Amino acid sequence: MDIQSTIKKLERELNEALVSVDKIEALQDVKAAFVGKKSELSGLMRHMKDIPNEEKPAFGQTINAAKQRFNTMIESRKKAIQAKRLARKLEQEKIDVTLPAPDFTRGAQHVLTRITESLEDLFIGMGYLVKEGPEIETDELNFEKLNLPKDHPARDMQDSFYISDETLLRTHTSPVQVRTMLEYGGTKPVKIICPGTVYRRDDDDATHSHQFMQVEGLVVDKDTTLSDLKGTLLALARHLFGEDRKIRLRPSYFPFTEPSFEVDVTCAGCDGAGCATCKQTGYIEILGAGMVHNNVLEAAGYDSTQYQGFAFGVGVERLAMLKYGIDDIRHFYTNDVRFLSQFKGELS
Ligand code: PHE
Repeated sequence: MDIQSTIKKLERELNEALVSVDKIEALQDVKAAFVGKKSELSGLMRHMKDIPNEEKPAFGQTINAAKQRFNTMIESRKKAIQAKRLARKLEQEKIDVTLPAPDFTRGAQHVLTRITESLEDLFIGMGYLVKEGPEIETDELNFEKLNLPKDHPARDMQDSFYISDETLLRTHTSPVQVRTMLEYGGTKPVKIICPGTVYRRDDDDATHSHQFMQVEGLVVDKDTTLSDLKGTLLALARHLFGEDRKIRLRPSYFPFTEPSFEVDVTCAGCDGAGCATCKQTGYIEILGAGMVHNNVLEAAGYDSTQYQGFAFGVGVERLAMLKYGIDDIRHFYTNDVRFLSQFKGELS
């Protein structure tokens, strides 16, 4: 028999088999078939006995060399299959680190919190402390020490939720003024703002809410003047409504300040010329303010011949409504995400 041509034939067959194999498992079968114990190649060894002695070594070497070559061929196919498999895997699991991250839903601060914190930032920058007080307040601190004795007609300005004869839900943040002055004992200057929630017995509609937020300001010192108040309120108006805004003070009445003012800011919509937003007046009312009444200073332990001060109270909802053109105060409290999610990022 012609061993060389048998080996050549086997080699051709192996080559063909290898080309069509693309799985490691199938390659094992090919390996068994071509170089395994039961393979035709191994079977050739059985012919050894028919070979003359002097040719036996060459015969054995030829078969072994063929077996080695076949193994190398199978091995290199195996490497190719593995490399292909790895390449496929890498391709499938490829991560493009330059892809932008998928967006996820981010919450946002409530618009009232944003306005409040922005005012806190402004006033902290001007040397104020932030003070808070309880929402359940005594009649004494909410009214009496603010120059509003029982039966004072001006109590009607702030319809109240009473809890008992002497306690109520505070109707404004002004009791925090009194608390702070009492805490300071009539000896130290006061420079505070007091943000917080207040309550009034109102029927809720587009512009009224039985619960809303205020930021109160109080400065008491020996030389605090009305022009300090005006400059401070101008800074507040410009901070929220833009650097071009002007303000004006109109005489008004609050029991706890004398003189008292309503403060207007030039309308951002028309810059003071008159438009629908400001009802053709050019101005929009934003807050109440005044010089602290002597009775209030005295009731909180401050000598009104030595000390004087100014105070203001501003409604946060009103500021937000003016700033963003919001037409219904109930939006702040009904928590429709479509409304709330409009107010994200920097306050502008
Ligand atoms: N407390 C007043 C109100 O709620 C606002 C105010 C505060 C006015 C301080 C003057 C000074 O209506």
